Amino acid sequence: MKKNILVTGGLGYIGSHTIVALHEAGFNPIIIDNCSNSSYNFLNRITKIIGYVPLYYSYDVCDKKSLDSVFKSHTIDGVIHFAAFKSVGDSVINPLQYYRNNLDSLVTLLEVMQENESANLIFSSSCSLYGNAKQQPVTEETPLEKSQSPYAHTKQVGEEIIIATCLANPKLKAISLRYFNPIGAHSSALIGESPLGVPSNLIPYLTQVAAGLRDELLVHGNDYDTPDGTCIRDYIHVVDLAEAHVMALQRIFDGKHQSNYELFNIGTGKGSSVLECITTFEAVSKVNVKYKIGPRRAGDIVKVWADTKKANTVLGWEAKLDLKSMLESAWKWQLEGNI
Ligand code: WQD
Repeated sequence: MKKNILVTGGLGYIGSHTIVALHEAGFNPIIIDNCSNSSYNFLNRITKIIGYVPLYYSYDVCDKKSLDSVFKSHTIDGVIHFAAFKSVGDSVINPLQYYRNNLDSLVTLLEVMQENESANLIFSSSCSLYGNAKQQPVTEETPLEKSQSPYAHTKQVGEEIIIATCLANPKLKAISLRYFNPIGAHSSALIGESPLGVPSNLIPYLTQVAAGLRDELLVHGNDYDTPDGTCIRDYIHVVDLAEAHVMALQRIFDGKHQSNYELFNIGTGKGSSVLECITTFEAVSKVNVKYKIGPRRAGDIVKVWADTKKANTVLGWEAKLDLKSMLESAWKWQLEGNI
């Protein structure tokens, strides 16, 4: 009997890729997504990839009654919680929307899981909660600096809420995955990053400029304390990231978790600057990207990249795809698949 895995935000960028990975690993993914930052069209595209229409509920995770009805209709063996607002820049402008949505959805989910004795949770956390860490690369033990954005703060508080709940309820087993910067797209170019409106993230904006959909890329500052003055991030292929979720779930099901709360950095261990992304993209696409240097963006951290030893040795996961592959797949998605 296949295990049922509820994926909140399962029609989103990382969520949709994880649905595919879960199916391929022999799980039965069940999607809950209110499409506040995703498109129903992704259900059709996921269907084309996996060959059947996965169970889908267009509910808001903050709606406790609706969420509970899903747990009453199915045995939920595991939950992967993606549903959250995720733009660093936007969270600085709309902090209350981020605190309300990201924290209310998590608390509601934990309540419903406990009330239905559903015990296994993978939480979508983020490297942005490291803030401007003094030491790079960051490990899971790196002290957290002051959050640089409400988004990062919701992820930090989210982890603390889960830790407290695991302490109070030993039956709950949770793993937080601190993502670095997910980019790229599935090889089919049927699913990929498809932000509603103007992209806040670098790569979708960059590929839209390269495709002639936008005039030029604004680089948010080149006066940072980095080799070329632009911010450094650890970009990770979304397919590698999706695989990490499957392995984290499997770790719990196999009883390998060493405590009922674990935490892993999910990155490549390599940092790339904004300008390096531009030049690497131009090399793989053979397209020049028009850009200009603008002011710094509020909420940005200067540099962050992962120490991946724990994920490699304890979780048994490591990133397989490099920046070139990520950008090639992002470009293919922009040209062939984007909606
Ligand atoms: C990257 C760099 C920008 C747009 C993301 C996700 C967040 C989290 C962490 C998972 C920064 C610069 C951007 C542009 C630019 N992931 N930039 N011009 O802010 O690191 O956050 O990764 O939890 O959910 O949003 O990613 O792509 O917005 O920015 O110069 O038009 O690119 O200033 O230095 P960020 P990003």
